[in-house]
Amino acid sequence: MTFHLNFKSCLKLIHGFSSSLENLFSFDRSGFERHKRGFYQKDRDTRLDGKLALVTGASSGIGFAIAKGLAQRGARVCLLCRNLQKGTEAAAQVIQETGNPSVFTEELDVADLTSIRRFAEHFQESKVDILIHNAGILPHEREVTHDGIERVLATHLIGPFLLTELLMPKLKAAGNAQVITMSSGGMYLQKLDLKNIQSDHGKYDGVVAYANTKRAQVILNEQWAEQYQDEGVTFSAMHPGWADTPGVRTSLPFFWKWMKTRLRTPEQGADTAVWLSLPDSHGTESGKFWFDRELVPTHFFPWTEESTRDRRRLWNLCTKLSR
Ligand SMILES: NC(=O)c1ccc[n+]([C@@H]2O[C@H](COP(=O)([O-])OP(=O)(O)OC[C@H]3O[C@@H](n4cnc5c(N)ncnc54)[C@H](OP(=O)(O)O)[C@@H]3O)[C@@H](O)[C@H]2O)c1
Repeated sequence: MTFHLNFKSCLKLIHGFSSSLENLFSFDRSGFERHKRGFYQKDRDTRLDGKLALVTGASSGIGFAIAKGLAQRGARVCLLCRNLQKGTEAAAQVIQETGNPSVFTEELDVADLTSIRRFAEHFQESKVDILIHNAGILPHEREVTHDGIERVLATHLIGPFLLTELLMPKLKAAGNAQVITMSSGGMYLQKLDLKNIQSDHGKYDGVVAYANTKRAQVILNEQWAEQYQDEGVTFSAMHPGWADTPGVRTSLPFFWKWMKTRLRTPEQGADTAVWLSLPDSHGTESGKFWFDRELVPTHFFPWTEESTRDRRRLWNLCTKLSR
């Protein structure tokens, strides 16, 4: 492959490298501490009383910390968990730690389309103010769900796509609802690869499947913003940096061992999601990508940029696979 670099693309490249280095050195705990100095005082005491928040994958790690952060601000919080027992224990812990009794659990496996439809059908609330797509996995082996979808793709993309579609009437009913997607900084090195979105070509690599679907989440966030503009629903994607969670310990044990003293707490990883949930914290910007309460670029390198055709194909794929 030959690259032809003109002056403009050289500048873009240099900017890409320097931004990515600055960004990369901010993923750890010291980055959060540094960025925290710029947080606005006004956001510290903003309340969420009367708001209903749904958080997927809230039984541990960052999702649990998000649920706690929202409950601390007075929201009613519903933990959407695939393991009801684990979810119920997590809800009890949130209630105990925050003193907010309005925390409950619903069973939802975000990688299972039947489970999502069942949940959406029986969920009786008239409005949803905050929906946080947090559930995530990084497996070492390829697995296909009973819907015929590779599990990482189902968890990060197809499930959240269907859940958002089915909850849209309730999100619209809330007026100024927030939909927040937890992506990953790992997507910065990945170009959307639709040919292998089901990870069915070559040897399975969980890290690549993870990064590819995390890249797709950020594009989908932009597409949702376009699709539902003027509907009173704001879409945001974010990445949490590197946080010490059960997921990181089990999926990336070497990384965890190497970085453990420098990893963020789950609460630090959850901070931007809680902040994005606050009314008026980030204005009316929809379809943007955030890190530590700041807008950040979605690409550092020109070679990760997807084509308009692939963006369209991604939307069509989500529509097709979620039927
Ligand atoms: N930690 C980091 O440094 C980091 C960095 C970048 C991005 N992220 C993203 O942050 C999010 C949370 O990650 P984490 O580190 O907190 O991981 P974690 O500790 O493994 O937690 C993941 C949560 O997702 C749930 N989950 C997985 N598959 C699910 C499904 N099909 N349906 C419902 N829930 C499901 C898990 O439930 P069970 O308890 O039942 O397994 C668990 O509660 C993920 O999207 C991850 O990609 C994390």
